[in-house]
Amino acid sequence: MTTEVIVKESEKQDEIRILVCGEADEFTKSLKDYCGSHYPFVKVEKGFQSINEIIEYASKESVDIAFIQLQQFINIEKEQAELSSTNLSKVIIMTDRLDLFKSTIVLQEPFAELMYIHTPMRVLTERMLTFDAKKKLRLYTNTHPTIRKQEKGRSVLIYSAKGGVGKSTIAVNVACQLAKKDKRVLLVDFATFGNIQVMVNLPRNVRGMSEAIGVLEQPMKTDEELQKYLEDGIHTMQVQGSRLDVLAAATPMKMTSLDLEKTDDLVAAIQRLDYDVILFDTSSDLTEKNISLISSATDIIYVSTTDIAASWSLLSTIDLVETLNRPLQNRYLVVNHYNDSLGFPVNELESILSMKVAAVIPDKYEQIQGYTNRGILLAEKQNLKINRSYKQIAHLIEPVFTEKELGIKKRKRWLARGGDQR
Ligand SMILES: Nc1ncnc2c1ncn2[C@@H]1O[C@H](COP(=O)(O)OP(=O)(O)O)[C@@H](O)[C@H]1O
Ligand SMILES: [Mg+2]
Repeated sequence: MTTEVIVKESEKQDEIRILVCGEADEFTKSLKDYCGSHYPFVKVEKGFQSINEIIEYASKESVDIAFIQLQQFINIEKEQAELSSTNLSKVIIMTDRLDLFKSTIVLQEPFAELMYIHTPMRVLTERMLTFDAKKKLRLYTNTHPTIRKQEKGRSVLIYSAKGGVGKSTIAVNVACQLAKKDKRVLLVDFATFGNIQVMVNLPRNVRGMSEAIGVLEQPMKTDEELQKYLEDGIHTMQVQGSRLDVLAAATPMKMTSLDLEKTDDLVAAIQRLDYDVILFDTSSDLTEKNISLISSATDIIYVSTTDIAASWSLLSTIDLVETLNRPLQNRYLVVNHYNDSLGFPVNELESILSMKVAAVIPDKYEQIQGYTNRGILLAEKQNLKINRSYKQIAHLIEPVFTEKELGIKKRKRWLARGGDQR
């Protein structure tokens, strides 16, 4: 399916007209505010009480997108068909019920899409403006996808539904490996009780995100102010002669105050900074903060362990991530704490999660306790085999490592060359 992002080509181009149906005042207001400041060519109209009203209006007027609450539908198949015969190019059906995403609602895709009502505006509008360019060419010809270009690098979220599986350890070590390859890397700690600062041995008084979160609370905040406070909060350190930037978490109270929109503003500001890769570490909870992080990431690394409970809890997260459905997001599964002698069936995990395992990190208690947990970076210890695993994960994000660095076996290379051709 080819998708295009609609962008206003010139001042003269038609505006995009959006209808909102149902009692969704708060939603309409946020949509209006967001479009007002980011997409001036989008016009939001409300006041539609029923689907029939929309159908009648959209058959006469040239309108483009309708947001309709799921409970407005009575016969969803029939009403979708009627809506699609109007001038509308897209209908977004909103729901706050995550379970419905697994159910059997028949959607006339790509015309109709189901979306979670608590999706951050930035992601929601991006999806709203992403079309399968087939129905109405009036708006979609001669468009340039410049909106996408705002995002310069990768935003990688390390996530697990269960705590203590090794997210922070992975975040730190993957960041170090990418920094050593001279990538411009920012490691950001979004955990409620952030411990990255200790893991990388930052001075106790670093400011981290504290002041930037303070700015978010002010009504008159500007992007410039936010950026300045973020830049001031970043601590630059060295990993074997390479530079690694770290943005530590604020106090737990401040981190807990991050709701959907605040997190989204903060993440957007962080993404405007000039980095190749931004690694986000967070805590394992399904808060608005994490929903926002999941929605903003270009890459998600799920972490599980050989503990089946960890895999099962990940299952619901994977569902949620699919629900939020950020366009073009890469998702990888990593198994941590792997112990050969336990003989954990990786296949079983893969079939529970319907996902391939992208990397396996061995359980190395002494090394991790002796180094990482004491603020000594594993990346400084070049001979440690465990670093290979972190390189493999880093390689998923930026493929800059050699086969040797990744520990790809000679035999595999030999097979790749044609192997035994007798
Ligand atoms: N591969 C590993 N082998 C042994 N211990 C590990 C490994 N990865 C992480 N740990 C340890 O497990 C504990 C939890 O790791 P952490 O990265 O803090 O998890 P999370 O961020 O998911 O809560 C820490 O004490 C850490 O040192
Ligand atoms: Mg952690």
